[in-house]
Amino acid sequence: MTPARTGSSVTPMPLVAMRQLLDEAATGGYGIGAFNVNNMEQLQAIMEAARETESPVIVQASRGARSYTNDRFLIALMGAAVELYPEIPVALHQDHGNSPETCFSAIEQGFTSVMMDSSLLSDGKTPSDFEYNVAVTREVVEYAHARGVSVEGELGTLGGIEDGVGSGEVHLTDPDQAVEFVERSGIDALAVAIGTSHGAYKFTQPPTGEVLAIDLIEAIHRRLPETHLVMHGSSSVPKELVDVINRSGGDIRPTWGVPVVEIQQGIRHGVRKVNVDTDLRLAMTGAIRTALAESPAEFDPRSYLERARTAMQAVVAERMRQFGQAGHARDYEPRTLDEMQLLYA
Ligand code: G3H
Ligand code: 13P
Ligand code: ZN
Repeated sequence: MTPARTGSSVTPMPLVAMRQLLDEAATGGYGIGAFNVNNMEQLQAIMEAARETESPVIVQASRGARSYTNDRFLIALMGAAVELYPEIPVALHQDHGNSPETCFSAIEQGFTSVMMDSSLLSDGKTPSDFEYNVAVTREVVEYAHARGVSVEGELGTLGGIEDGVGSGEVHLTDPDQAVEFVERSGIDALAVAIGTSHGAYKFTQPPTGEVLAIDLIEAIHRRLPETHLVMHGSSSVPKELVDVINRSGGDIRPTWGVPVVEIQQGIRHGVRKVNVDTDLRLAMTGAIRTALAESPAEFDPRSYLERARTAMQAVVAERMRQFGQAGHARDYEPRTLDEMQLLYA
């Protein structure tokens, strides 16, 4: 960890609206990793990686993360991140909001972006119909934009084409329906379903175009060239990270994730936000297992949490370079949410 920069000439910036980060990424032709956080070490790893690579970044919290941190710890940690890393433009995003109320409460807490995922009903499992999705997303867009906050919507449902995990049903995003969805909902960014799924078990062999429909991204981007696309389930599940876990008593079955070259292909066709959580969990878990196996007498949590943080930082920094966001932290002056509100109005 680098110590806090005191006496720096950089003016501290507040959390930035995700829309501005994505607009700038579109101008620069790169993608931005959206990394999930649940605790201090994960946020430190992300911010250190952002500093190391000079990257703007999206920090995202699931409903589970918000409940794990009681919101209050999360918001306090984000305050520390903004203060200690003033040169990094950072957005705080609600990952997979299941209802307008979830999104509204995130905005009240200071999130600068929310995902209203009404591709599923509020149980987070049952696929919804198109009209429900439009109406619920639109309701959140009106509330959020009036406060300068960005909104991500989703059309189609995640889940492997191969085995139907996730919602249990796979509905790839229809490009024509995507045009209507974006127009009627007014969203800033569209999450697309192209065959990826959450978690470590995405594909049972290296994915081909049969199970990972990157060409669908190209088709959607042709129809919606101005819309920022979002790829969920974008962990690559590298064998090296899985092997580290398994070498120290873990039991992760052979599995394949989304190859980084496929993500880069998506970025060339309008993907601006790339969601990564599983790879970070794998890196931390591997480091903790290794540390405990190497030093069975050690019981200071800092000894293994520090190694976990370092391992996660390495993966985040690598993704930042691969997605192209590295070096872009100082490209622009962040706008305030008030300015964003005026732009929407
Ligand atoms: O959307 C999936 C993310 O990996 C968050 O997962 O709900 O277990 O925090 P979670
Ligand atoms: P992974 O499980 O592939 O990391 O996906 C994370 C995600 O999409 C969070 O919304
Ligand atoms: Zn997701």
